[in-house]
Amino acid sequence: MAFTAEKEALVVDSWNAIKADAAELGLKFFLRIFEITPSASGLFPFLRDTSVPLEKNPKLKRHAMSVFAMTCEAAVQLRKLGRVILKETTIKHLGATHAKAGITGEHFELMRYALLETIREAVPYMWSPKMRNAWAESYDQLVEAIKKEMRPVA
Ligand code: HEM
Repeated sequence: MAFTAEKEALVVDSWNAIKADAAELGLKFFLRIFEITPSASGLFPFLRDTSVPLEKNPKLKRHAMSVFAMTCEAAVQLRKLGRVILKETTIKHLGATHAKAGITGEHFELMRYALLETIREAVPYMWSPKMRNAWAESYDQLVEAIKKEMRPVA
């Protein structure tokens, strides 16, 4: 089904409404991930052997911001071009980084759940099943693009 201008607006408008609080949201997002699956924190090299508390870790906030912003960009791409086209170097780098870090389909699923819950809690006054689906579709397509680059070369 086509990714319509309405779907794009559902993602972009809600992101614009909350992006000023992205640092705080990013922390909530990761706390939710680690609450469901505590072992996921072990995947992040910058969380191992550090005395910096989670809420002060700049790399964690940066990762959360990338996920939010890139999912939003994916919505724009899907409406304009019908698929997610990130810069060749960006997507290759993301594929390689996640493959090396041992990220699996289950981790992407876990993040999907946490992402949708975090946005829902941030914009309860805007939230709807349509908005949920628009974010979910954008995230899924972005993840498909990353996963393609994670496959070992045959
Ligand atoms: C690294 C984005 C999903 C774990 C990164 C980087 C970006 C990014 C931009 C930095 C790459 C670099 O310059 O080194 C994304 C996006 C995702 C996603 C857009 C989904 C749409 C996930 C998931 C996990 C994960 C599901 C695990 C639960 C990691 C780890 C690193 C990383 C462990 C390496 C961090 C490091 O070595 O410092 N990701 N990520 N990512 N990501 Fe993700």
